[in-house]
Amino acid sequence: MIDKEKWDKTFHDLPDVPPVDEPERQYYFIRKARQIVQKINEERGLPLRYKIVTFGCQMNARDSEKLAGILEQVGYIEEAEEEKADLVIYNTCTVRENANQRVYGRLGQLGHAKKSNPHMMIGLCGCMMQEPHVVEKLKKSYRFVDLIFGTHNIYKFAELLATRLESGRMVIDIWKDTDKIVEDLPVERKYSFKSGVNIMFGCNNFCSYCIVPYVRGRERSRDPKAIIREIERLVADGVVEVMLLGQNVNSYGKTLEEPMTFAQLLREIEQIDGLERIRFMTSHPKDLSDELIEVMANSKKICKHLHLPVQSGSSRILQKMNRRYTKEQYLTLVDKIRRAVPDISLTTDIIVGFPGETEEDFQETLDVVRKVRYDSAFTFIYSKRSGTPAAVMEDQVPEDVIKDRFDRLLAEVQQIAAEVCTVHQGTVQSALVECRNEHDPHLMTGRLSNNLLVHFPGDESLIGKLVDVRLDECKGFYYIGEIVSI
Ligand code: SAH
Ligand code: SF4
Ligand code: F3S
Repeated sequence: MIDKEKWDKTFHDLPDVPPVDEPERQYYFIRKARQIVQKINEERGLPLRYKIVTFGCQMNARDSEKLAGILEQVGYIEEAEEEKADLVIYNTCTVRENANQRVYGRLGQLGHAKKSNPHMMIGLCGCMMQEPHVVEKLKKSYRFVDLIFGTHNIYKFAELLATRLESGRMVIDIWKDTDKIVEDLPVERKYSFKSGVNIMFGCNNFCSYCIVPYVRGRERSRDPKAIIREIERLVADGVVEVMLLGQNVNSYGKTLEEPMTFAQLLREIEQIDGLERIRFMTSHPKDLSDELIEVMANSKKICKHLHLPVQSGSSRILQKMNRRYTKEQYLTLVDKIRRAVPDISLTTDIIVGFPGETEEDFQETLDVVRKVRYDSAFTFIYSKRSGTPAAVMEDQVPEDVIKDRFDRLLAEVQQIAAEVCTVHQGTVQSALVECRNEHDPHLMTGRLSNNLLVHFPGDESLIGKLVDVRLDECKGFYYIGEIVSI
């Protein structure tokens, strides 16, 4: 039901000129958009509904929560099905070419759905929008898109939405880069009990295959006080686990006015009462310090899991990738971490078929996989990203050769992961209960400190709680278990 009196009051209260400072300016546009949306809802007798589709990494997932936070405040209601929504937003990823193709495919279908819903608006944002050729293509061949914005001005979403709602015209706003970080905008979390927390934005590493530094801009760290304040608020709101997010969390703090290390930040976060678990992603091996290993070893809250992307096991390829470590340095680092935190779970990212990769290079990668014995690994086929140094390197590896290596790597990774998983069978471990099991409604699903999942009998009242579970049976990459104490 719309409270007409309240709506009229808001309408009259809003000054003509928006504030200049952020976030006040965005709160002004939230109210402005709310007025327009309320009017439409009244005329239709039905609330407008939104659906956000997120591609890519945890950064994008967190950004989508920020978009949802604003939409909820504006008065939209979440809708599960894209075709039924009045506002569909694709938060895109461009790290590999197939991510882009998926967006174009789905966009074509959505264009048809739009024809039968006159209220439907389509918004596109995220990393793909930071590529000029993408925006050109959209302007030319996808005229039905209503709103296009990038990664740097995502905090302006309320303003862009209000502009689109008011003008009825396609709104495109892309920035090349920014040094601005806007704090304290609304967020609508996907989970009540866990949350991502950005600690930095952008990336300065320029790995030669990677487009992220071009689409996410230069590295900027958030003020530690703002991070702590956000986590304290999250904890007060029921969050027990945070995932600290950055493309390279190990270089956190270097660009701050008063520089501080990631390890120091972790020490401060550890002090937050009521916070039970701390995770972080992603660690670049070149910047992983002894100080961080020490903090991890002594922490009661940092989870026993480290995602440490190796990308390749060949020092020659690593150099061409501009990763700035060798195979030996990586293996030494792994040893050091394992000595300090013996039960840590290690996971990684591996690229197969980087330009110039020979069978010998690939064997080096297999060697690292066998030596480290990862708990799991994300394996990727090299994807040429135009504008990156690797895209113009000679000796691009033929597709069939890459496919063959990829299959061999995957088999090795999976076999080792299954063996590693059995190590914990029979132990009792703490699990954060996340949801009901999708396939078997009698079971609940919890996440262990080492990031593996365990399924066990239980009910929904357990969601968000930490429970002790006995890991009865290892099923390759997850467990079936039983609660022993709550
Ligand atoms: N900042 C993170 C990674 C972000 S991208 C890090 O440095 O580890 C996530 C993963 O995508 C990378 O680790 C890499 O394995 C993969 N990736 C990035 N660019 C790629 C490309 N051009 N082709 C294939 N995989 C790629
Ligand atoms: Fe890409 Fe390398 Fe930056 Fe990771 S560290 S985002 S792989 S450039
Ligand atoms: Fe993709 Fe952007 Fe993340 S390119 S992997 S969504 S930073």
